[in-house]
Amino acid sequence: MKGARFLMFTAVMFAGCATEEPTNLLEAYEEVDATTILDAPSAIPGTFAPAHRGRVARGEYMVELLGCGVCHTDGALVGDPDFERSLAGSATGIAYMKPMGEEHPGVVYPANITPDDETGIGTWTDQQIANAIRAGIGRHGDQRIASMPWQGYARISDDDVDAIVSYLRSIKAVRHKVPDKVEPGDRATHPFVYFGVYRSKP
Ligand code: HEC
Repeated sequence: MKGARFLMFTAVMFAGCATEEPTNLLEAYEEVDATTILDAPSAIPGTFAPAHRGRVARGEYMVELLGCGVCHTDGALVGDPDFERSLAGSATGIAYMKPMGEEHPGVVYPANITPDDETGIGTWTDQQIANAIRAGIGRHGDQRIASMPWQGYARISDDDVDAIVSYLRSIKAVRHKVPDKVEPGDRATHPFVYFGVYRSKP
């Protein structure tokens, strides 16, 4: 990117209840459009998980490789994952608008993807889970999932997505309800991070 110096904030933490006007520490920087930084690079043709792995083990390998737990495990977004509740959703959300520009940006909380019926994906069909992973389609078919990097997962093969689904169904169901999505303009009651890319101003 033209040799510019970049400063990347992967975990800028915002409390939902700031009272004072914050000093702008980013005055000397300008923001770069970061809408695609979360996209995973496309798979290199010919690289496959070892063929001898069983389907569930292969799914586990894929989930680790694709970093699902980075968002879907509580605390992981702020560097302190709660492994007891692996993949059971995060109470730290992700702002999908610029918090520097929007006083109250929209925020989504990474879902509980353990097989709990009430708070996880226990009652989702295989197809619904696969659609969420590869196409970012929410359970009701219409809604695009914000902040989940599904564009980077769009070309996962049927076999691999089946393996991921099998693995997710095999893990311990954890009851853990994540905070509801926050609409733009509403005040978040739980903390959230913002993924942004900045470069020093000329
Ligand atoms: C960068 C963060 C991030 C990563 C990495 C990520 N997700 Fe997500 N995912 C989210 C967020 C945020 C949501 C909720 C979006 C919403 O509510 O609009 C979500 C939603 C989902 C859903 C829908 C569940 C529901 O109840 O809405 C599934 C299934 C899912 N993710 C599976 C995965 C899998 C499998 C992986 C790894 C291959 C993965 N995610 C990686 C952030 C992430």
